[in-house]
Amino acid sequence: MNYTTVPSLSHVSQSGLCAFPIFEGFEGEILPSVVEQKLLRSIEKEIIRQSFSKKKHDALLVCGNEQIHHILLVGMGKRGDVRPKDWLFFGGIVARKAKEMKVETIAILVLQNADVQRVVEGIQLGSYTFNKYKSENDDTKHVIREVIFVGEGDMSPFITRGQLFASAVSFARDLVNRSPSETTPSYLADLASQIANGSSMVSCNILSPDEMSDMGGLLGIARGSNQAQKFIHLTYNGGSNKTITLVGKGITFDTGGLSLKTSEGMQTMKLDMSGAATILAIFSVLDQLRPDLAIHGLIPATENMPGPNAVKPGDVVRALNGKTIEILNTDAEGRVILADAMSYAEKHIKSDAIIDVATLTGACMIALGEEVAGLFCNNRELRDALLVNSQHIGEDIWELPLVQSYKEQLKSHVADIKNIGGKYGGAITGALFIEAFVPKGTPWAHLDIAGPSFTEKGNTICPPGGTGFGVRLLLAYLSSI
Ligand code: BES
Ligand code: MN
Ligand code: ZN
Repeated sequence: MNYTTVPSLSHVSQSGLCAFPIFEGFEGEILPSVVEQKLLRSIEKEIIRQSFSKKKHDALLVCGNEQIHHILLVGMGKRGDVRPKDWLFFGGIVARKAKEMKVETIAILVLQNADVQRVVEGIQLGSYTFNKYKSENDDTKHVIREVIFVGEGDMSPFITRGQLFASAVSFARDLVNRSPSETTPSYLADLASQIANGSSMVSCNILSPDEMSDMGGLLGIARGSNQAQKFIHLTYNGGSNKTITLVGKGITFDTGGLSLKTSEGMQTMKLDMSGAATILAIFSVLDQLRPDLAIHGLIPATENMPGPNAVKPGDVVRALNGKTIEILNTDAEGRVILADAMSYAEKHIKSDAIIDVATLTGACMIALGEEVAGLFCNNRELRDALLVNSQHIGEDIWELPLVQSYKEQLKSHVADIKNIGGKYGGAITGALFIEAFVPKGTPWAHLDIAGPSFTEKGNTICPPGGTGFGVRLLLAYLSSI
């Protein structure tokens, strides 16, 4: 996709489709210098004739002129109610229409340059498809070749950033969408090495079996699988401002282990490495983003399978920090491997903040649904930074409490801690379990992305499958601190 900018619509020589954002209760929002009067008047007439609502995400296709054949009016609601997410959807709506009409060049009217990044992301994400396993057909062939932004001022930094963010999201989506038998722990480890090989600022260490030998949590969960577990440590050296550690849950397939899931519950469980995909996607663009930070990426990766050597309910394993864990439900495996990752971070990295990203609990989905991630955090500054960036980039997160009294539920009769709590508040007890392994005094945030990491139905900016949730949020966070 090629992006260009022009100061007015008369500079667009030929385009099959031009998109205008339209606001409720506002006339004359489109600057006359950008669009010629005659065209403006005919558009206004059409809006009245077809009683176009201008409500959010409502769209209307009207005739243009000789230059621009069709004009897509996209409702944005009231000017004061427009949120960054609406610009993403605006881009997504335009991309979908272009595909439907098989148009390869689109022009887009811009009002504020700062919105351009979201629009670019919306276009790229809205036209994202995963065709790896599909035979070629017309549907898989369509591409938008050129996007022309019509407006004044320098939009190029926003365009560049939008492209970068969207390419990272696509990277994560591709990883999640592939067959889980391909995206094994070794596959993730190879990918991490490739990212490091292609970058002068990123290095990668895949731990040897010896180096993993005290990671009883990771080794325990991996015992049921014939795929070797991997522990990936990526390092980005971009400056000494701060050291941020990102941890991603890398369960490449979650059967539940001996506490086996139902066939329905298992259907989407290739998504269980979404946290890992988020971290890898971020590292794949860090040398272009170049934040003034040191960033560590930790990924404990394994399948969770019910093989003959599988960990059994009642088994006790010892995490890298020496704490023992009674595994009572082998399906609460994410927290067990994250325990080792947190212990590793404590042992090897002096972090200013640790953020883990994990498809941890169905309970978080019950609480917040499919579009919102749960945020657990022990530090106000970190929490505020994540919340502000989440609003800004249009990925919704909502804070849930680390109710300290619920720690009672994690007490084990035989070990230091057990891996499940009671019937209620499962997202919270999951987070409290991880908290027990976080280095003391380190600001830490846990993002439970079980809901928003995957969409079964698809939406305007994402087809059914992996969503890449968290990638843009964390990229924005990393470039804001
Ligand atoms: N990977 C799942 C959580 C999940 C469920 C993610 C649905 C996305 C969609 C996790 O490993 C899991 O199985 N959690 C259990 C924990 C329980 C046994 C305490 C759950 O949520 O049921
Ligand atoms: Mn599980
Ligand atoms: Zn899982």
